[in-house]
Amino acid sequence: MKILSIVGARPNFMKVAPLHRAFLKHPEIVSKIIHTGQHYDARMSDIFFNQLGLPKPDYFLGVGGGSHTQQTAHIMLAFEKILLDEKPDMVVVVGDVNSTVACALVAVKERIPVAHVEAGLRSGDRTMPEEINRIITDSISDLLFVSEESGMDNLAREGVPGEKVHFVGNVMIDSLAHFREEAEKNTILEQHNLSPGAYALVTMHRPANVDSAEGLSAVSQIVSDTAEHLKVVFPIHPRTLKNLGQHGLLNSIELNPNVLLMEPQGYFEFLKLIANARVVLTDSGGIQEETTYLGVPCMTFRNNTERPVTVSVGTNILLKDMTPADINGKLKDILNGNIKKGGIPPLWDGETAGRIAAILLAAARNIPGRQYHT
Ligand code: UD1
Repeated sequence: MKILSIVGARPNFMKVAPLHRAFLKHPEIVSKIIHTGQHYDARMSDIFFNQLGLPKPDYFLGVGGGSHTQQTAHIMLAFEKILLDEKPDMVVVVGDVNSTVACALVAVKERIPVAHVEAGLRSGDRTMPEEINRIITDSISDLLFVSEESGMDNLAREGVPGEKVHFVGNVMIDSLAHFREEAEKNTILEQHNLSPGAYALVTMHRPANVDSAEGLSAVSQIVSDTAEHLKVVFPIHPRTLKNLGQHGLLNSIELNPNVLLMEPQGYFEFLKLIANARVVLTDSGGIQEETTYLGVPCMTFRNNTERPVTVSVGTNILLKDMTPADINGKLKDILNGNIKKGGIPPLWDGETAGRIAAILLAAARNIPGRQYHT
């Protein structure tokens, strides 16, 4: 069974690494990795391949940035060639980035079965590019692997036949569990003179927060308010850096002595930073899950989340419709020890990729008339 797994952007790498490892355990599977190049910087991409033990991708499509349409179209055109050459038995896509939907579309049109890992998540907010990617990818996938129970409900409500859907847990937590010890050895705290529990970790990159003057000034206000209470560590996404600069807001952040602005961090560095943070402020999807697993308080600067289990079971709170002043109040609460005690959601046990590999193999045996490369 030949499987092509797609990676494109930073949050994909830690999802495909455990899948590739699980596939290698089955001699019947030939596993190839296609990197679309949606993220291309060493700090947004290469470092993850090295740390996660991913082999050099079998193909690198080098599509880079551009508008959503350009990026998606470039990925589709480049991936089509690979698909026609490789004739895989299955294409595996993960998450909700432009690479996910682009490659799923190409495969489906060529009648190659598609498996979507992290299916069923819905924020209910169609202004998020990722929400559109999720809805389209789920509606055309042949197998849907779900990370939390809300995903099962969403897919049932959308009429996806139950036999396509499998609740398997969270493959990103497989990476976290696998590399946690290794990440603990990382020296990022010492390098920056940071003490465990003595800093807030901030990440922001969603278009809703960092593409408008209004969003950017809220972000910069939150950073400076937080820095009044404790050190702020802010690994900054290229999009956020560029836009803060263009709106004249970067200087005040850079000059704040209690803010440590840094480049995007590697996987181990970032896990170490999360695990030792007093609180995390973010608009990322994956970080809501990582903080839940690690039991670290997380404040999510969004009105919605496609990962509601991080709120109902985990340590996440949504800063819904809050002004920077409200957020400051919530932060003070957390710093005063008013901390939500979270638990770990069902099947976030580090074994998800193995379950997915077993289901893919069983599905392959059941698709009549297909020839599998062994
Ligand atoms: C993408 C994903 C988002 C994910 C995020 C994680 C989509 C729709 N969005 O958003 O779901 O949470 O990645 O980072 O797929 N850039 C660089 N270097 C890079 C990559 C990007 O400088 O290695 C620049 C681009 O040129 C662009 C900006 O960063 O100016 C945004 O990159 P893009 O891939 O369009 O989207 P993200 O905001 O990163």
